[in-house]
Amino acid sequence: MSSQSSILEMDPILLPRHIAVIMDGNGRWAKARGKARMFGHKAGVDAVRKTVSTANRLGIQVLTLFAFSSDNWKRPKEEVSLLMELFVTVLGREIKRLHKNCIKLNVIGDISKFSQSLQDKISSAEALTANNAGLVLNIAANYGGQWDILQAVKILADQIKRGEISVGELTEADITARLATAHLPDVDLMIRTSGECRISNFMLWQSAYAELYFTEQFWPDFDEISFTNAIAWYINRERRFGYTGEQIRAMLIIEK
Ligand code: IPE
Ligand code: IPE
Ligand code: MG
Repeated sequence: MSSQSSILEMDPILLPRHIAVIMDGNGRWAKARGKARMFGHKAGVDAVRKTVSTANRLGIQVLTLFAFSSDNWKRPKEEVSLLMELFVTVLGREIKRLHKNCIKLNVIGDISKFSQSLQDKISSAEALTANNAGLVLNIAANYGGQWDILQAVKILADQIKRGEISVGELTEADITARLATAHLPDVDLMIRTSGECRISNFMLWQSAYAELYFTEQFWPDFDEISFTNAIAWYINRERRFGYTGEQIRAMLIIEK
């Protein structure tokens, strides 16, 4: 049986609720074909489409895709501006399909650094899909995990200054509720393609107990089978959250 058909037969409770993906390796994929880096970014869009549609079909609650990091501004100007253009084109082209499939789109990150016209396009895409009850698709653009924690802390500091919250009462939940992913479950499974084994400032707070899956495949080659293999791997992990393995297995027996 393929991993996909077996996953479809699984109790949905076993599936990761939130999957985050560091879509890496577009440049190397293009280089291996003697092409410019942009060719790889364009090919990466097809992998995005496949991944979104598989996540939606499997009934995954939240998919967060790292599209552009706060540090990617350091890249050559031409690559940055072509990436922005690609973002605009893809958003315009795909939004109706996302809406038709009941997908709710959020762009997370500091979008104030984008052109006004891109910010407007993002706002109208988010507004169009705001009431959709299917997959929540977060596109992380100009996103950094440290930025996310910092902006949450700034909101909290303002509230403390106004006397709405006292420092002594602060809990982790106060930070969680002010992140770009507020009200969404923490990341269960984080996938990174291209063989790099690092998090590159992605979802730092939200991935405290994420299972980390690294694959050698470059992002444009990541397809439905690659994705379902990652989910199948996740399902076989024993997540402990600080407990011992014996405690976790005892809890699972009690639940059954
Ligand atoms: C990921 O692929 C896409 C973005 C960061 C926008 P890369 O562009 O990082 O590809 P490599 O890592 O250079 O191969
Ligand atoms: C991380 O990839 C960012 C995205 C996938 C958008 P990078 O290619 O920018 O990460 P580093 O620089 O290799 O850590
Ligand atoms: Mg890279």
